[in-house]
Amino acid sequence: SMDNFIDGLMGQMTIDEKIGQLNLVTAGEVTTGSIVSTDVETKIKTGKIGGIFSMTSVPRIRAAQELAVNHSRLKIPIIFGLDVIHGYKTIFPIPLGLAATWDMDLIRETARIAAKEASADGLNWTFSPMVDISRDARWGRISEGSGEDTYLSSRIAEAMVHGYQGNDLSADNTLMACVKHFALYGAAEAGRDYNTTDMSLHRMYNEYLPPYKAAIDAGAGSVMTAFNDINGVPATANKWLMTDVLRNEWGFDGFVVTDYTAVNELIDHGLGNLQEVSALSLKAGVEMDMVGEGFLTTLKKSLDEGKVGEADIDRACRLVLEAKYKLGLFEDPFRYCDEARAAQTILHPTHLAKAREAAGKSFVLLKNDGQLLPLKKAGTVALIGPLANTGSNMPGTWSVSADLENTPSLLEGMRAALGEQVNIVYHQGSNLLADSAYQERATLFGRTIPRDERPEAEIIAEALEVAKQADVVVAALGESSEMSGEASSRTDIGIPAVQQRLLIELLKTGKPVVLVLFTGRPLTLTWENEHVPAILNAWFGGTETGKAVADVLFGDVNPSGKLPATFPQHVGQLPLYYSHKNTGRPLADGQWFQKFRSNYLDVSNDPLYPFGYGLSYTTFTYGELMLSTDTLQRSGKMQVSVEVSNTGEYAGEEVVQLYIRDLVGSVTRPVKELKGFRKIQLVPGQSQRVVFDLTEEDLKFYNADLEHVAEAGEFIVFVGTNSRDVQEKRFFLKD
Ligand code: IFM
Repeated sequence: SMDNFIDGLMGQMTIDEKIGQLNLVTAGEVTTGSIVSTDVETKIKTGKIGGIFSMTSVPRIRAAQELAVNHSRLKIPIIFGLDVIHGYKTIFPIPLGLAATWDMDLIRETARIAAKEASADGLNWTFSPMVDISRDARWGRISEGSGEDTYLSSRIAEAMVHGYQGNDLSADNTLMACVKHFALYGAAEAGRDYNTTDMSLHRMYNEYLPPYKAAIDAGAGSVMTAFNDINGVPATANKWLMTDVLRNEWGFDGFVVTDYTAVNELIDHGLGNLQEVSALSLKAGVEMDMVGEGFLTTLKKSLDEGKVGEADIDRACRLVLEAKYKLGLFEDPFRYCDEARAAQTILHPTHLAKAREAAGKSFVLLKNDGQLLPLKKAGTVALIGPLANTGSNMPGTWSVSADLENTPSLLEGMRAALGEQVNIVYHQGSNLLADSAYQERATLFGRTIPRDERPEAEIIAEALEVAKQADVVVAALGESSEMSGEASSRTDIGIPAVQQRLLIELLKTGKPVVLVLFTGRPLTLTWENEHVPAILNAWFGGTETGKAVADVLFGDVNPSGKLPATFPQHVGQLPLYYSHKNTGRPLADGQWFQKFRSNYLDVSNDPLYPFGYGLSYTTFTYGELMLSTDTLQRSGKMQVSVEVSNTGEYAGEEVVQLYIRDLVGSVTRPVKELKGFRKIQLVPGQSQRVVFDLTEEDLKFYNADLEHVAEAGEFIVFVGTNSRDVQEKRFFLKD
């Protein structure tokens, strides 16, 4: 058995070799810190490395594995990790975009494909899913998670873990998942990356922790710590979090890895010197130290000085070895190394087809006045904007293994999809940002956007000449992929002013203008919403973005994405989310300002686009909301149903959303909470009754004593097409 095998192995290990297993080094293909690993080869041979990340391709991984299993004393295989976040070589939409599909089967399949490709190329571990709830679009990494909602994020966390891990971790085509960043990384103050978080237990348990727990309940084999501190204790040294909650309350039996140099960063957090913080982190519940080598260089000394126990090191070593065992690495360390499989699997046409489908389904139609979309496949389209012909920018943030050279730009992808039917003319139109220093800061991993240093007026004038040749203008504007993502927080979350000036001029031509928006976060589009007739939010759609945009713009695919995060009117509203508390002084319904009520003088409380929002080319009509009973018994079940009809002219998909409100509680409860959703497909004229089962379980929350309870009393259930446009009915939960 695994236990016997590991007992036997650990019986032969020296303390140094045990500590070596806790060391995760980077091969340096991708670095996100100032420290990079050195002397990797010698360290492998001397048993000082347990895992390597950011090394890709079978030949390189095989070579490193050979060093471990042929040249180190105990021949312990290495675990190979990578940030396979939204695809390996076939890149899917950024996670925030995938979340907008609300399609759990699709999300699971994208993770499955990512696992097939990465595992064929030698990898066996991915640093995904990222399940950090974020309600502050200033935070750049909102792009890497599933948005603001606890329930939706939890379902996605499960789907991704199942997709990566399949039902057999030792299979050669699965990856071990790593749920991150534990915990609360998305609640960084002021949306500034790596910043402090301070949060009540009430909010943690009810709103922020459930997605991590869902990933763990789904079987995630590993957990990554967060960079931030939490109520005064950095996550990477937080015993309460990693031992009391993760191990003891949730029963997690995998291993915990730090984020990049997060142990060393405890020094800057002010917790002590490297030896002290390494000991602290190990004892708090960390098993593997990413890149910083605090464990490697200090734990032995701490053991000799009695500052850590041998049992701490043994615990960590055992959990790392167990992960390798579960992956089948002891049985065959080269299980994931097969060039032929890599060549057959990576970028397989079925994967690219899935990427195109996923991209199309992730796009959110934000506005479509006068049914401007879909466009006719005829005539001339002017594709204009700094994001229209930037292939390297299409995969989106954290797609470190993407083949940037071979990713078609929007222009190339659209031309490939449309062939001769549509004449596409192009102009860059403007720079991404007027300020070249800002643009430089927002560049990472080779995602460069070309600059045109001529005067702005000259560039725009040229673009207008191109626009004038066309029947319709498609403006490709917004953020480059590295304007969101890690270390890419922004205070102004609008479309950059230089692009907006281009947009104004394009609108003045009188041509119909469609805005194809690229973004990794909710943007403030208040002006655009007022003036541009059609807006399609494409996020960053991955490898097949261009074709997928063509599919949607020209009506081969009817958009069905729904926002997984609220789009604010103004950055000053952040954090803004639909499941807020009522307060003691709520606004009256339909009001936007009342003195001595909870609101602002200058902007209403409304979002620009609410959570769950997204249009379709067809119309869906909801019949009357029906409840099977108005009194739910504990341990009973109640059906909430509504008939949805496609009353428009296109086949389409609709995400029917169910929310609840607990009207009276022992603690304050949100005004709405998502508790169910169903994605349905209807052809014109077709109707379907959508039935949700509601039980006591759906009404539970963590009370002031952190007990998970449902309290008897009155509730509202809401069903609708987004979090704002709903019907409601009341019911009681009875003891
Ligand atoms: O997995 C990532 C993490 O999300 C951010 N810091 C670096 C890690 C490894 O690349």
